[in-house]
Amino acid sequence: MSNVIPIKQVDLTNQPMVNFNEIVSYREVLSTKEIAAIEHECSLYEIRPAAAIDALQIVQNERRWISDESLYAIANMLGMSATELEGIATFYNLIYRHPVGEHVIHLCDSISCWLHDYQTIADHLRKTLKIEFGQTTQDGKITLLPNVCLGCCDKAPALMLDVELIESLNIELIDSLVKRLNGVDNG
Ligand code: FES
Repeated sequence: MSNVIPIKQVDLTNQPMVNFNEIVSYREVLSTKEIAAIEHECSLYEIRPAAAIDALQIVQNERRWISDESLYAIANMLGMSATELEGIATFYNLIYRHPVGEHVIHLCDSISCWLHDYQTIADHLRKTLKIEFGQTTQDGKITLLPNVCLGCCDKAPALMLDVELIESLNIELIDSLVKRLNGVDNG
């Protein structure tokens, strides 16, 4: 496994303030591909703001996270305020408002997982990746985040790796998961 050290810690008390009054023309920020995909989603709803989550996901799929500039642009395209869109973006755990690595591990820290060896799994992940929650490995590959219940409490502890749900975690499974991420990515 590559040598990894933390490079980023999300400190929510020390984030620059978002200027929600800023208006950005979406045509100056979003790509033609993004605009076409968002327009398609808008066509499926009666009102454009209803496509907010889809639009955020489309842009995130291209850029890995939603910057302030992207947020302003999407809000402009959907005809809604940046404040409204920020409320939606921060509500959903899978929309990232900070840069993340190529892969994101969301470890469930809700009650069933807590009762089923969460701490052992969390400690092992932190030790193996050499990062804390909210951080990304130096090679930019893996971000580690906490998450609320993933809906599979009968198979706790559990995590979400990108869009893949992984249940009944143990040390061996974590080790093979990390090896897989590094092995696959190392080609
Ligand atoms: S508490 Fe972890 S999946 Fe429900």
